[in-house]
Amino acid sequence: MSLPTITLSDGLKVPALAWGNGSGNARKTPVESGITAIKAVDTAQGYNNEEETAQSLKEGVQLAGISTGDIFLTTKVSTENGDPNAAGIALEDLRESVKKSLARLGRQPDLLLVHNPFVPPKGKLVEFWKILEELKDDGTITASLGVSNFRPQDFEELLPQCKYKPVVNQIEYHPYVLAHLDPILKIMSEHSIRVASYGPMSPVLRHPSKKGGPIGPLLKKAAERLSRENGGVEVDAAMVCLLWCRAKGAIAVSASANPQNIEKLARTQTLPDLTADEVDEIERTGRKVHFRAYDEHMCVDFPAPDLPQDL
Ligand SMILES: NC(=O)c1ccc[n+]([C@@H]2O[C@H](COP(=O)([O-])OP(=O)(O)OC[C@H]3O[C@@H](n4cnc5c(N)ncnc54)[C@H](OP(=O)(O)O)[C@@H]3O)[C@@H](O)[C@H]2O)c1
Repeated sequence: MSLPTITLSDGLKVPALAWGNGSGNARKTPVESGITAIKAVDTAQGYNNEEETAQSLKEGVQLAGISTGDIFLTTKVSTENGDPNAAGIALEDLRESVKKSLARLGRQPDLLLVHNPFVPPKGKLVEFWKILEELKDDGTITASLGVSNFRPQDFEELLPQCKYKPVVNQIEYHPYVLAHLDPILKIMSEHSIRVASYGPMSPVLRHPSKKGGPIGPLLKKAAERLSRENGGVEVDAAMVCLLWCRAKGAIAVSASANPQNIEKLARTQTLPDLTADEVDEIERTGRKVHFRAYDEHMCVDFPAPDLPQDL
């Protein structure tokens, strides 16, 4: 069965749901059985598991009877251990850093991201990006280029001067960060830069209310409808968060180390879309609050809106 995909501005088709190797227990077991059902993997230099990812990809594709080329692979150039306070990658070290990633992965990634705007040396974002463009032009990498955790000021610096626009910005994205993200999403939309959402289940898993916050009841209602209309199959609020991302045209990056949740992630891909009313109501309600689970990058010099965390 063909899985839902999202087409990027350069024509690259990306599975709408990706398996993230950078958080939770799934980080320790980079791909596991998820790969048999989810055909996209998100890793990074900063997760220190590119080699293990390559190994588990090999094992996973054998299990699934597919080839490694069938898996959409994303990696990121990162600061050491992904630490936002660690020194970035010096311009003169970037080529070697990318080549080392290629060697660890044992294949070309489909997408190469700059993990956050603090990876390039301060004030050198454009020069940094131009090196990635050169690596693409000389054939060292075949990947599409993207960014992660980019704020408005980062795009304002980069976009007027780049040859290849980033095709995605991987950011924490769900209804509770929309008010904060509005200025970023406006720029991204003007330049056809897609959202890749990390932490897509944050409203359900991490909101301090432990009940999903204000959108909790809406997620539950949509889950019940989908279950009822799809033969009683189990659908939960976390799965609805992924469907909301898909409806908004965002790639969702999730993961699990729990067989039941892995099965739900796989099943989410086969569920029909939320209705337009469900998508709008979740959005309208979600944007009245501000809650972010990951604030180490996006809140630097880009203050969060003055909204309550809960209603
Ligand atoms: N670019 C960046 O700066 C950045 C930052 C953060 C993350 N990321 C990427 O995004 C990936 C995903 O981030 P995330 O972990 O925050 O995503 P998430 O989708 O919000 O949360 C994933 C967690 O959800 C749990 N889960 C899965 N299905 C569930 C279900 N049906 N019900 C309840 N819980 C469920 C899993 O735990 P169980 O194991 O218990 O199932 C897993 O640990 C990371 O691995 C990484 O690749 C990137």
